[in-house]
Amino acid sequence: MIKVIGVNKQFEDVQAVKDATLEIKRGHIHGLLGPNGAGKTTLIRSIVGLYDIDAGEIRINGERLTRDNHVLKSKIGVVTQHINLDKELTLDENLEFAGRLYGMPKALVKTRKMELLKAFGLESAKDRQVKKSSGGMKRKLMIAKALIHDPELIILDEPTVGIDVKARKEIWEMLLRLRNEGKTMLLTTHYIEEAEYLSDMISMINQGVIFHTNSVDVLVKQVGLYCHEYHDGHHIRKCFFENLDAAEEHRQAYKGNSMVRQTQLEDVYTELIEAQVNDSGN
Ligand SMILES: Nc1ncnc2c1ncn2[C@@H]1O[C@H](COP(=O)(O)OP(=O)(O)OP(=O)(O)O)[C@@H](O)[C@H]1O
Ligand SMILES: [Mg+2]
Repeated sequence: MIKVIGVNKQFEDVQAVKDATLEIKRGHIHGLLGPNGAGKTTLIRSIVGLYDIDAGEIRINGERLTRDNHVLKSKIGVVTQHINLDKELTLDENLEFAGRLYGMPKALVKTRKMELLKAFGLESAKDRQVKKSSGGMKRKLMIAKALIHDPELIILDEPTVGIDVKARKEIWEMLLRLRNEGKTMLLTTHYIEEAEYLSDMISMINQGVIFHTNSVDVLVKQVGLYCHEYHDGHHIRKCFFENLDAAEEHRQAYKGNSMVRQTQLEDVYTELIEAQVNDSGN
């Protein structure tokens, strides 16, 4: 569905995205993980045609995305990292405005608004001004706004940042529902468990370079299915093993705070990002 081929994007002295290649399959949720400043937002803004890229190309359904390809752009819904709602308007009016911007007929905007307010549990708050709404409501409205024109492809840049567990879980359910309807999604998040729970595929990015694209299961297997985590008197250490017996055997040698558990995506993330930082430092 989306192909990112050899994309580069430079800002003055920063090479924000370096030769990025990525393929996102139709109907998948693809998680993009990386530390602050890794290049996630720059890559997303390039994919949705907001930046002129320096090299490479973006293809959506085989078609080349350029800044003025408005037909293709109308198939994409974008949830930006920073809240870009009109604070003075109500939730309902924000959706109305978004629908009008896409040139949707009035009656269709009305139907879509109602569907989305209901789906996100925002019906009773629809006439509240955004500035009087909670953080969870705003983040839900950001997603609803991106869905107003029923896009095939949804790009979400940290959609659940700073909201409580309940609102986050509701958003997760919504994203999985959209996935079951066949939508394709690219998601960035600093909540690794969010990516682990939602994503069919994960890519990691660091210093503009994409590496280790794979499913959670494969990534975990690459590092080792079991983790022996212990404190060596100074630091928390982790050792990874292919099987439980080997991990338990390693544990026998340590006293004190020490446990064997299944490896999580968070362990993989830390291992691989650190290895990449060390590689690029050499
Ligand atoms: N408009 C810009 N002008 C100059 N430099 C920029 C611009 N946007 C981003 N950068 C730089 O490009 C690099 C990548 O930034 P980007 O915002 O893509 O990272 P990110 O992975 O989204 O980080 P975060 O997790 O903090 O959102 C950083 O070094 C950043 O300072
Ligand atoms: Mg960002």
